[in-house]
Amino acid sequence: MIHYDEKRKQFHLQSGETSYVIQIVRGYPLHLYWGKKLSAYRGQPESFFKKRSFAPYADPQHPEFSLDTLPLEYPGYGNGDYRHPAYQVQLVNGSTVSDLRFAGHRTYPGKEKLPGLPATYVADDAEAESLDIFLNDPVTHLAVTLTYTVFRDFDAITRSVRFENKGKEALRLLRALSASVDFRDDRFEVMTFYGSHNFERNISRRPLQMETLSVESRRGASSPQHDPLFALLRPNTDEDQGEAFGFSLVYSGNFSAEIEVDQFHTTRTSIGIHPFDFSWKLEPGESFQTPEVVMVHSTKGLGGMSRTYNRLYRTRLARGKYRDRPRPTLINNWEATYFKLNEKKLLAIAAEAKKAGIELFVLDDGWFGRRDNDKSSLGDWVVDRRKLPHGLDWLAGRMNDMGLMFGLWFEPEMVSPNSDLYRRHPDWCLHVPNRPRTLTRFQLVLDLSRADVRAYLIDSLTKVLSGANIQYVKWDMNRHMTEIGSASLPADRQRETAHRYILGLYSVIETLTERFPDILFESCSSGGGRFDPGMLHYMPQTWASDNTDAASRLKIQYGTSIIYPAIAIGAHVSAVPNHQVGRVTSLDMRGHVAMCGNFGYELDLTKLSDQEKKIIKKQVAFYKEIRPLIQFGDFYRIENPFVGNEAAWCFVSGDRSEAVGFFFRVLSDPAQPIRYFIFKGLDPDALYENIATGDIFGGDELIHVGVTVPIEKGDFRSYVWRIRKI
Ligand code: DGJ
Repeated sequence: MIHYDEKRKQFHLQSGETSYVIQIVRGYPLHLYWGKKLSAYRGQPESFFKKRSFAPYADPQHPEFSLDTLPLEYPGYGNGDYRHPAYQVQLVNGSTVSDLRFAGHRTYPGKEKLPGLPATYVADDAEAESLDIFLNDPVTHLAVTLTYTVFRDFDAITRSVRFENKGKEALRLLRALSASVDFRDDRFEVMTFYGSHNFERNISRRPLQMETLSVESRRGASSPQHDPLFALLRPNTDEDQGEAFGFSLVYSGNFSAEIEVDQFHTTRTSIGIHPFDFSWKLEPGESFQTPEVVMVHSTKGLGGMSRTYNRLYRTRLARGKYRDRPRPTLINNWEATYFKLNEKKLLAIAAEAKKAGIELFVLDDGWFGRRDNDKSSLGDWVVDRRKLPHGLDWLAGRMNDMGLMFGLWFEPEMVSPNSDLYRRHPDWCLHVPNRPRTLTRFQLVLDLSRADVRAYLIDSLTKVLSGANIQYVKWDMNRHMTEIGSASLPADRQRETAHRYILGLYSVIETLTERFPDILFESCSSGGGRFDPGMLHYMPQTWASDNTDAASRLKIQYGTSIIYPAIAIGAHVSAVPNHQVGRVTSLDMRGHVAMCGNFGYELDLTKLSDQEKKIIKKQVAFYKEIRPLIQFGDFYRIENPFVGNEAAWCFVSGDRSEAVGFFFRVLSDPAQPIRYFIFKGLDPDALYENIATGDIFGGDELIHVGVTVPIEKGDFRSYVWRIRKI
């Protein structure tokens, strides 16, 4: 998979159907190619050399060798490349110029763990091969390792970087991105994702211009405002054909992704920890590891790119017992009771859930401390006996007696000023001296860079989790950071706080998920505000949005599917009028939309009519039938809800023997055109049976002619077809 041509000092990485070529020229790793698999790269790197007027160069004999015009694998700062650098380091003398040169390499089977950070992995060394390229700067004594992994079965390459101070004086990293890729042209459109609370993962696609475009988070979390990912698409690329290059950062904190088109129409892309308000002191002998970026190439359009990410993240990023297991259908009490919960209400909802065939009851916010609203108690992870006099163990037992699993909500990273924890440890939150502590939702952020805070969290959660039969945890996080500083760090390390927080978070969740391997963990951050690959490594599913409106969810789930598999996307049926947008949609459509993810309900089931209860029971039974397809199948997007009134997609089993297709019409129109549901991903040579009607179709017919979508009056209509190979 990784070929090294010693004579030319050329590395040819082959991953699945892709090639990635690096050549060392004059000590610099040049980036020659990334794209469709090549048998060999025979071209000369000199084709990139061109003497440009006023371009800087170091060697007067070779003015054509200018760092400003070459495609570089990991560009530095200060010696002629005016584009964005991938890293920058400051010496004790104040200078910030460095120059890394090739010092050797090693290749090895498999993939090594990234210390303290989430990453993709292999189950067997034969699945991947890795390359370390070693670079040194004799002046700064900075040693850098560029690590690449290629996969046998995925068109994906991962990259990360390790910095080490091999000198005798301290160094300060000012910028340490995970990857930089120079494309030789700019004929691309860029896809990025934006949003807010209740409005996550909207898609933006636009042509590149002669400028730098960036998406980023400076909020301390990956955030719903921008997602830590982007894709470059050729202008003719659509869902099914054309080239796409994806970049997805496996990290949950501040990030920056930049796409820069330079004066000669080349494109530099980079992604990594945001350099804003970041620096990292490297004492002699110390090292710093960047997060991983997962880069996917597709010649099968955006859909091909998504399926690679979906499958890679489902099988080789997510971990644990539940990775390959069907996830339980659930009922969550949040929108049913909010903070006004008690044993009687919860058990009544649970009883209805059981009758509907639901498998897991999730007790959300409000069960601990004296949390009657969002103004108190975060940090005091002790059951509130006023609401739950018999305690959690008893409650979990009653649920178990009914045949339900029991799950519990926490928001461990936070502290309410009105809490015993805060009264005991006012310096345990992020803060800076002599400044007020800015609140969001009446809460502050615990300083997870501190070992004592981490130990407290591990201990207090362990007590709760081992004190009752808790089989699921919803791990929430409901505010971003302000006054980012730590009482435990020295002045010259304050700018390390935000990253140290994320490292601290990862170590806490690593410990807890290891200690409780049977618990299914779901990540959440005011909905899908920290839906990122970093969290997915520890927690195999994420609550996609607090917005449970079916029409809004079409877009949210469509945008989320660009990278994440359906099994990771928490989706619930809620009450109407919808609590977030006030819309009244049909129960059918609410069910169909939610069952295209990890399915659950979030409403007071005791308040439903008998007719509605019947529908819900049918929905749950239907979901259980299609669950393997939804949770482990391949996802194909068909109609885009961002461009019209309709959405459609289908899930196809890995062996193409089964599929389920969904079509949604949001608003009714006069003079409706007849629509055809055109399947994708089927075996064109096979015959398929419509399971509901017994009608037989050829696979080719289903993917070229399709099935007719009924025309009906009324808004919020949804249709589903289940087919199976005969
Ligand atoms: C935000 C989450 O996204 C909701 O689902 C709910 O758990 C609330 N927090 C509880 O405070």
